[in-house]
Amino acid sequence: MKITVIGLGYLGATHAIAMAELGHEVIGIEANPKRLTDLQNGVVPFYEPGLDEALQNVLAKGNIKFQENHTEESREADLHFLCVGTPQLPGSYAANTEYLHSAVKALAPFLRPDAVVAGKSTVPVGTSAVLTKVLAEAAGFEPHLAWNPEFLREGTALEDSLRPDRIVIGVNDERSAELLRKVYEPITVHGTPFLTTDIPTAELVKVAANSFLATKISFINAMAEIAEVSGADAVALAEAIGYDERIGNKFLRNGIGFGGGCLPKDIRAFMARAEELGVGQAVDFLADVDQVNLRRRKRVVDILEHELGTLTGKRVLVLGAAFKPDSDDLRDSPSIAVAGLINAAGATTVVTDPISLEHVRAQHPEFIAEDDLIKAATGADAIVLATEWAQYRDSHVPAQLAGVVANKLVIDGRNALKVEKWQAAGWRLIALGRNVEA
Ligand code: UDX
Repeated sequence: MKITVIGLGYLGATHAIAMAELGHEVIGIEANPKRLTDLQNGVVPFYEPGLDEALQNVLAKGNIKFQENHTEESREADLHFLCVGTPQLPGSYAANTEYLHSAVKALAPFLRPDAVVAGKSTVPVGTSAVLTKVLAEAAGFEPHLAWNPEFLREGTALEDSLRPDRIVIGVNDERSAELLRKVYEPITVHGTPFLTTDIPTAELVKVAANSFLATKISFINAMAEIAEVSGADAVALAEAIGYDERIGNKFLRNGIGFGGGCLPKDIRAFMARAEELGVGQAVDFLADVDQVNLRRRKRVVDILEHELGTLTGKRVLVLGAAFKPDSDDLRDSPSIAVAGLINAAGATTVVTDPISLEHVRAQHPEFIAEDDLIKAATGADAIVLATEWAQYRDSHVPAQLAGVVANKLVIDGRNALKVEKWQAAGWRLIALGRNVEA
């Protein structure tokens, strides 16, 4: 099928490449000149394992191209995917849907009446109804608009796109259902569940799923708060409750909490939208989910101050800057937030990360960004594991770093370090939600 993908950020670029991999003919539309040139040159403008190779592969096959604006060729497309961002509005919890409005207005002159527009961006419930009106006015006919949420995770984005847990489409008409079924057929032939719903349900699925995941993480982090004052172990607790299939063991890792471009923004936008709809109370609990999450970041500084006294004049190394491993994304990163709190408490704050230090240097001149792990650790009064990159979990690291610090104190903010290895190398290890002191 011939399709366009409008907006080539994380979601759009991955979706466009995945669609081309499936054999569709893809036109990607991107307004940001740097991002556009990168993609045209076969370079993915963010770090995502495997995606560069996939992009080069589809460029070589000739079934993808990238351009700044629609051209007459867009009229040949049967399906247009809207993938532009819906960031948090400054000074508010609500999502900014302005880019979606601009995207449909720009598409209107090139839209065939029988073509289908499918929104993939994460949106407040009710957005599609508003966009339908905007598009109808701009195009001069009643468009086929559908919603098709995307659940990809950073770090496994391509795999999640090509082999998703499920595909959900929200449709109002048979034409939209037919085209979306067809475009995903190369995936659904392998048995992937394909759910067809009304549009409000499809819009809600994504925020509901992300709210559930955020709640699960904050639940175990709340248990960690209880564990810390009662001598219990939140990691063992998670394992014990996780064996109950109704609970499951995923997303129960306690630590400095969730971040990234989706979970924090989505729960806040959901609260804002529920309030607008007059049912704010229904998701009041998400404010607590948010608060627990923010408290765990602060907890690291409390531990450091308890152990070191005032942080003024101390040097603290934060291992990892990205919001999770295998990503260079600093958006709402708990690691950056923790580094910021340590810095605000007076410590010289050194940050290291295998791939995102360029962004750290550009966005956070207040930290010392150091690529080399040994140099970064030299002279530190304490080390905080904030992003659980495999490099930092390696069992040689405790002995390597032991030689370059005087005060061997490590705080495991992700419950990812091998406690015995660190202790055997002479470190005092404090893990969030646990009492692991030897
Ligand atoms: C999330 C959703 O998982 C995905 O389905 C959606 O499409 C986009 O938002 P992503 O933002 O890539 O994906 O990250 P995810 O893997 O969900 O992790 C989010 C945050 O939660 C990370 O900061 C991670 O460190 C944290 N986390 C995750 C925990 O603190 N504990 C856990 O047990 C799991």
